[in-house]
Amino acid sequence: MIGAAGSLGLLSVGGVAAWSRSGSSVRATSEAVQKAEAARRTAGQRVVSARLRPQPVTVNLGGRVVQTWAYGESVPGPVLRATAGDLLRVTVANGLDTDTSVHWHGVALRNDMDGVPGMTQDPIRPGEPFTYEFTAPDPGTYFYHPHSGVQLDRGLYGVLVIEDPADPGDHDQEWIVVLDDWVDGTRRTPDEVLAELLAAGGSAADGGQPGMDHGSMSGTHHGAMGGMAEGMQSDVLGGAGDVAYPHYLVNGRTPDAPVTLSARPRQRVRIRIVNAGSDTAFRIALGGHRLRVTHTDGFPVEATETDALLIGMGERFDVMVTLQDGVFPLVASAEGKRGQGLAVVRTGAGRTPDADARPAELSRRVLLGTDLAAVASVALPDVHPDTTHDLVLGGSMAPYRWTLNGKTHPDVASLEVHQGERVRLRFLNMSMMFHPMHVHGHTFGLRAGGARKDTVIVRPMEGVEVDLVADNPGQWATHCHNIYHAEAGMMATLSYQA
Ligand code: C2O
Ligand code: CU
Repeated sequence: MIGAAGSLGLLSVGGVAAWSRSGSSVRATSEAVQKAEAARRTAGQRVVSARLRPQPVTVNLGGRVVQTWAYGESVPGPVLRATAGDLLRVTVANGLDTDTSVHWHGVALRNDMDGVPGMTQDPIRPGEPFTYEFTAPDPGTYFYHPHSGVQLDRGLYGVLVIEDPADPGDHDQEWIVVLDDWVDGTRRTPDEVLAELLAAGGSAADGGQPGMDHGSMSGTHHGAMGGMAEGMQSDVLGGAGDVAYPHYLVNGRTPDAPVTLSARPRQRVRIRIVNAGSDTAFRIALGGHRLRVTHTDGFPVEATETDALLIGMGERFDVMVTLQDGVFPLVASAEGKRGQGLAVVRTGAGRTPDADARPAELSRRVLLGTDLAAVASVALPDVHPDTTHDLVLGGSMAPYRWTLNGKTHPDVASLEVHQGERVRLRFLNMSMMFHPMHVHGHTFGLRAGGARKDTVIVRPMEGVEVDLVADNPGQWATHCHNIYHAEAGMMATLSYQA
């Protein structure tokens, strides 16, 4: 199936027929979805309105000027802010010449506003508006992006902050740090990258396509091919990606022209870190400082100190830092790849760090989301599940195909659940590459008191078990947040049944 933009269109299965077909499924248009939203509404609820215009733009990434698609004029798009319990009303005016959608990543919202064409809505056609309107129930750091093809790998992403009315306000400043791997406008679009992956499918031939690591494409870490072992490998994650990007960005800037984050010495800063990359995990560290991790994917964790943090695509971490006096590199190293993103933290005099600064903290203790523990107030008690679904993660580079339970979307059998059930998902990674697995509309708990999350890294030959409460009816995409994997089939539906 070839979509309008030339992609496979797997994230967007098509028109109304595809998403209203199934018999006893609780559809996005069902009364149960309306009711769930009605229960979130309150009298005198504050309304936060915003507009987003996805459109073609020319942006300056810091010396490098590229043509891309963005929300408005800049990359990242605007930061949207509301408070937990508010009603968000966001009108999207599609200024692209192709279909699009907006997904509110991590938010436990009403299913019909989840922004998945073919599952929860029809695509937003060129020139058409669509208004997303939903209550944001939980505070935290979220982000928004299209759920249409590989559009996320353009400049189409922005941060959504849902403030906590009970925030202790124990910090002097808040910074938002968005990480991204960048290829668009550097002679190739993400759609072309996907087409190459699908066409090359493991061929080691180098057709003169800079940025594509053909060594990895036929690398042994995928198990099947042998030879060409010099792929993108991480000692923590194993196979680290399929695409070697020409640039890695922090807040839309290359390391040659980084953003500066300013504060005064000894100030406490809350940093909200979002990985909006499509095929890259980032290892982030701040020279001269340790990071105190307080939240992941919006939810609080037992505060944990670390030197470095490994962030998969779609994951978010909030960290607290008490700043020293001087100038410090905040480095986001592309895990298992060549290159990094950089921001400069400045509280005093000093020279700006080099683009390739490597603070020692990067190679000290590195923490993953799976290392964290939920605070008691959000921990899910470890009870026996009513329903358990296994998801075996697999795939190959030749053909370029990523699977759940041996199948590609939409052939993966739905994960059927019923309202009120306790559901366990058991991710078992039988590939030699890591996969950040994401569930829409819910925040699951990692078993044995682990963090509440909506996106979790599953490493090669590792099993990760998560529990969730089925309290948000509808049809929910569940997929790898490597956008190329999702497009190549690694997606299923968490499907409420009546
Ligand atoms: Cu951030 Cu289904 O995605
Ligand atoms: Cu994956």
